[in-house]
Amino acid sequence: MLSSQDLKLAAARAAIDYIEPCLKPDVVIGVGTGSTADLFIDALGSHRSRFRGAVASSERSAVRLRAQGIEVLDLNAVQSMPVYIDGADEINAKLQMIKGGGGALTREKIVASVAERFICIADDSKLVAQLGAFPLPVEVIPMAREAVARSLAQLGGKPALRAGFTTDNGNEILDVAGLAILDACLLESVINALPGVVTNGLFALRPADVALLATQDGVRRL
Ligand code: 5RP
Repeated sequence: MLSSQDLKLAAARAAIDYIEPCLKPDVVIGVGTGSTADLFIDALGSHRSRFRGAVASSERSAVRLRAQGIEVLDLNAVQSMPVYIDGADEINAKLQMIKGGGGALTREKIVASVAERFICIADDSKLVAQLGAFPLPVEVIPMAREAVARSLAQLGGKPALRAGFTTDNGNEILDVAGLAILDACLLESVINALPGVVTNGLFALRPADVALLATQDGVRRL
Protein backbone atom coordinates (compact mmCIF):
# COMPACT_ATOMS: atom_id res chain seq x y z
CA MET A 1 0.00 0.00 0.00
CA LEU A 2 1.54 3.30 -1.12
CA SER A 3 1.43 6.16 1.39
CA SER A 4 0.14 9.62 0.53
CA GLN A 5 3.78 10.75 0.34
CA ASP A 6 4.61 7.90 -2.12
CA LEU A 7 1.66 8.92 -4.29
CA LYS A 8 2.70 12.57 -4.34
CA LEU A 9 6.21 11.49 -5.31
CA ALA A 10 4.84 9.33 -8.13
CA ALA A 11 2.84 12.28 -9.48
CA ALA A 12 5.89 14.55 -9.22
CA ARG A 13 8.05 12.06 -11.13
CA ALA A 14 5.36 11.64 -13.78
CA ALA A 15 5.41 15.40 -14.27
CA ILE A 16 9.18 15.29 -14.86
CA ASP A 17 8.62 12.66 -17.59
CA TYR A 18 5.80 14.75 -19.04
CA ILE A 19 7.79 17.99 -19.31
CA GLU A 20 11.13 16.45 -20.33
CA PRO A 21 10.57 16.99 -24.09
CA CYS A 22 10.15 20.74 -23.57
CA LEU A 23 13.33 21.25 -21.50
CA LYS A 24 15.73 23.34 -23.62
CA PRO A 25 18.51 25.77 -22.68
CA ASP A 26 16.35 28.89 -23.17
CA VAL A 27 13.18 27.51 -21.56
CA VAL A 28 11.69 28.88 -18.35
CA ILE A 29 9.05 26.83 -16.55
CA GLY A 30 6.46 27.81 -13.97
CA VAL A 31 6.50 26.05 -10.62
CA GLY A 32 3.73 25.97 -8.03
CA THR A 33 3.53 25.64 -4.28
CA GLY A 34 2.72 22.89 -1.78
CA SER A 35 3.95 19.53 -0.63
CA THR A 36 3.51 17.91 -4.07
CA ALA A 37 5.17 20.86 -5.80
CA ASP A 38 8.05 20.56 -3.28
CA LEU A 39 8.65 16.96 -4.42
CA PHE A 40 8.52 18.10 -8.04
CA ILE A 41 11.12 20.80 -7.32
CA ASP A 42 13.40 18.24 -5.67
CA ALA A 43 13.10 15.91 -8.67
CA LEU A 44 13.70 18.82 -11.05
CA GLY A 45 17.08 19.53 -9.46
CA SER A 46 18.90 16.79 -11.37
CA HIS A 47 17.64 18.31 -14.68
CA ARG A 48 18.72 21.88 -13.86
CA SER A 49 21.37 22.11 -16.61
CA ARG A 50 18.75 21.34 -19.28
CA PHE A 51 16.66 24.53 -18.97
CA ARG A 52 17.19 28.20 -18.16
CA GLY A 53 15.27 28.48 -14.89
CA ALA A 54 11.88 28.80 -13.25
CA VAL A 55 9.29 31.32 -12.12
CA ALA A 56 8.02 30.44 -8.64
CA SER A 57 4.49 30.97 -7.38
CA SER A 58 5.68 31.67 -3.83
CA GLU A 59 8.69 32.71 -1.78
CA ARG A 60 8.66 29.17 -0.30
CA SER A 61 9.06 27.55 -3.71
CA ALA A 62 11.66 30.12 -4.77
CA VAL A 63 13.83 29.16 -1.78
CA ARG A 64 13.45 25.45 -2.61
CA LEU A 65 14.26 25.99 -6.29
CA ARG A 66 17.41 27.93 -5.44
CA ALA A 67 18.43 25.16 -3.02
CA GLN A 68 18.33 22.83 -6.03
CA GLY A 69 20.62 25.20 -7.98
CA ILE A 70 17.77 26.33 -10.25
CA GLU A 71 17.72 30.01 -11.25
CA VAL A 72 14.54 31.80 -10.16
CA LEU A 73 13.38 34.47 -12.59
CA ASP A 74 11.03 37.42 -12.12
CA LEU A 75 7.87 36.86 -14.16
CA ASN A 76 8.30 40.35 -15.64
CA ALA A 77 11.48 39.13 -17.34
CA VAL A 78 9.76 36.17 -18.97
CA GLN A 79 7.71 36.35 -22.15
CA SER A 80 6.60 32.76 -22.52
CA MET A 81 6.52 29.57 -20.55
CA PRO A 82 5.63 26.18 -22.01
CA VAL A 83 4.41 24.63 -18.76
CA TYR A 84 3.26 25.39 -15.23
CA ILE A 85 3.31 22.50 -12.75
CA ASP A 86 1.35 22.66 -9.51
CA GLY A 87 -0.78 20.68 -7.08
CA ALA A 88 -4.43 21.18 -6.18
CA ASP A 89 -6.70 20.86 -3.17
CA GLU A 90 -9.54 19.53 -5.33
CA ILE A 91 -9.90 18.80 -9.04
CA ASN A 92 -12.96 17.68 -10.99
CA ALA A 93 -13.36 15.81 -14.28
CA LYS A 94 -13.36 19.13 -16.20
CA LEU A 95 -9.93 19.80 -14.61
CA GLN A 96 -11.36 22.77 -12.72
CA MET A 97 -9.66 23.12 -9.35
CA ILE A 98 -9.77 24.59 -5.90
CA LYS A 99 -6.30 25.79 -4.94
CA GLY A 100 -4.79 27.95 -2.24
CA GLY A 101 -4.54 25.57 0.69
CA GLY A 102 -0.94 26.76 0.92
CA GLY A 103 -2.01 30.38 0.54
CA ALA A 104 -0.23 31.02 -2.76
CA LEU A 105 -3.35 31.19 -4.94
CA THR A 106 -2.83 34.67 -6.40
CA ARG A 107 0.71 34.11 -7.61
CA GLU A 108 -0.28 30.62 -8.76
CA LYS A 109 -3.05 32.08 -10.91
CA ILE A 110 -0.75 34.75 -12.31
CA VAL A 111 2.07 32.37 -13.25
CA ALA A 112 -0.39 29.81 -14.64
CA SER A 113 -1.96 32.51 -16.84
CA VAL A 114 1.33 33.00 -18.66
CA ALA A 115 1.99 29.29 -19.23
CA GLU A 116 0.86 27.45 -22.34
CA ARG A 117 -0.05 24.31 -20.37
CA PHE A 118 -1.07 23.81 -16.74
CA ILE A 119 -0.01 20.38 -15.44
CA CYS A 120 -1.79 19.47 -12.20
CA ILE A 121 -0.03 16.89 -10.03
CA ALA A 122 -1.79 15.21 -7.12
CA ASP A 123 -2.74 11.94 -5.52
CA ASP A 124 -6.13 10.72 -6.63
CA SER A 125 -7.81 11.64 -3.34
CA LYS A 126 -7.96 15.16 -4.80
CA LEU A 127 -10.30 14.06 -7.60
CA VAL A 128 -13.90 14.98 -6.68
CA ALA A 129 -17.29 14.80 -8.40
CA GLN A 130 -18.23 18.23 -7.04
CA LEU A 131 -15.89 21.05 -5.99
CA GLY A 132 -16.48 22.65 -2.60
CA ALA A 133 -15.92 20.21 0.25
CA PHE A 134 -12.52 21.92 0.61
CA PRO A 135 -13.14 25.47 1.90
CA LEU A 136 -12.52 27.98 -0.90
CA PRO A 137 -9.55 30.28 -0.14
CA VAL A 138 -10.12 33.95 -0.98
CA GLU A 139 -7.23 36.42 -0.72
CA VAL A 140 -8.44 39.81 0.54
CA ILE A 141 -6.91 43.20 1.14
CA PRO A 142 -7.00 43.48 4.96
CA MET A 143 -9.21 46.61 5.18
CA ALA A 144 -11.89 44.84 3.09
CA ARG A 145 -11.94 41.61 5.13
CA GLU A 146 -15.24 42.14 6.95
CA ALA A 147 -17.07 43.63 3.96
CA VAL A 148 -15.95 40.75 1.74
CA ALA A 149 -16.88 38.23 4.46
CA ARG A 150 -20.44 39.64 4.56
CA SER A 151 -20.73 39.35 0.77
CA LEU A 152 -19.42 35.77 0.85
CA ALA A 153 -22.01 34.91 3.53
CA GLN A 154 -24.71 36.33 1.22
CA LEU A 155 -23.45 33.91 -1.43
CA GLY A 156 -24.14 31.07 1.02
CA GLY A 157 -20.60 30.59 2.36
CA LYS A 158 -19.19 30.54 5.86
CA PRO A 159 -15.96 32.56 5.71
CA ALA A 160 -13.26 32.10 8.35
CA LEU A 161 -10.11 34.17 8.60
CA ARG A 162 -6.98 32.02 8.23
CA ALA A 163 -5.50 32.93 11.61
CA GLY A 164 -1.91 34.13 11.78
CA PHE A 165 -1.37 33.90 8.03
CA THR A 166 -0.22 36.65 5.68
CA THR A 167 0.23 35.98 1.97
CA ASP A 168 3.42 36.76 0.05
CA ASN A 169 1.50 39.83 -1.16
CA GLY A 170 0.85 41.11 2.39
CA ASN A 171 -2.84 40.19 2.41
CA GLU A 172 -5.18 37.92 4.39
CA ILE A 173 -7.08 34.78 3.44
CA LEU A 174 -10.71 33.93 4.11
CA ASP A 175 -11.42 30.19 3.87
CA VAL A 176 -15.03 29.82 2.78
CA ALA A 177 -16.85 26.63 3.70
CA GLY A 178 -20.30 25.58 2.57
CA LEU A 179 -20.43 27.11 -0.91
CA ALA A 180 -22.55 25.26 -3.47
CA ILE A 181 -20.24 25.40 -6.48
CA LEU A 182 -22.67 24.52 -9.26
CA ASP A 183 -21.13 26.81 -11.88
CA ALA A 184 -17.45 27.17 -11.00
CA CYS A 185 -16.70 29.70 -13.79
CA LEU A 186 -19.56 31.96 -12.70
CA LEU A 187 -18.66 31.78 -9.01
CA GLU A 188 -14.99 32.47 -9.78
CA SER A 189 -16.02 35.65 -11.64
CA VAL A 190 -18.57 36.76 -9.05
CA ILE A 191 -16.16 36.46 -6.12
CA ASN A 192 -13.31 38.09 -8.02
CA ALA A 193 -15.57 41.08 -8.70
CA LEU A 194 -16.11 41.85 -4.98
CA PRO A 195 -14.18 45.02 -4.07
CA GLY A 196 -11.18 44.06 -1.92
CA VAL A 197 -10.85 40.53 -3.27
CA VAL A 198 -7.43 39.97 -4.81
CA THR A 199 -8.33 36.56 -6.17
CA ASN A 200 -10.10 33.38 -5.17
CA GLY A 201 -8.92 29.78 -5.30
CA LEU A 202 -11.27 28.60 -8.04
CA PHE A 203 -9.26 27.76 -11.14
CA ALA A 204 -12.18 27.19 -13.50
CA LEU A 205 -11.96 29.95 -16.10
CA ARG A 206 -8.46 28.65 -16.74
CA PRO A 207 -8.51 24.98 -15.68
CA ALA A 208 -5.61 22.55 -15.89
CA ASP A 209 -4.76 21.11 -19.30
CA VAL A 210 -3.55 17.80 -17.91
CA ALA A 211 -3.88 16.13 -14.51
CA LEU A 212 -1.37 13.49 -13.44
CA LEU A 213 -3.14 11.70 -10.59
CA ALA A 214 -1.22 9.05 -8.69
CA THR A 215 -3.21 5.96 -7.69
CA GLN A 216 -2.26 2.69 -6.01
CA ASP A 217 -2.09 1.22 -9.55
CA GLY A 218 0.03 3.88 -11.20
CA VAL A 219 -0.33 7.43 -12.45
CA ARG A 220 -3.55 8.21 -14.27
CA ARG A 221 -3.55 10.97 -16.89
CA LEU A 222 -6.76 13.05 -17.27
C1 5RP B 1 -1.00 26.09 -2.57
C2 5RP B 1 -1.82 25.19 -3.41
C3 5RP B 1 -1.41 23.75 -3.45
O1 5RP B 1 -1.21 23.38 -4.77
C4 5RP B 1 -2.49 22.92 -2.85
O2 5RP B 1 -2.76 23.39 -1.54
C5 5RP B 1 -2.10 21.43 -2.80
O3 5RP B 1 -1.06 21.26 -1.90
P1 5RP B 1 -0.44 19.83 -1.58
O4 5RP B 1 0.35 19.43 -2.78
O5 5RP B 1 0.43 20.11 -0.37
O6 5RP B 1 -1.57 18.91 -1.28
O7 5RP B 1 -2.75 25.56 -4.04
O8 5RP B 1 -1.53 27.38 -2.52
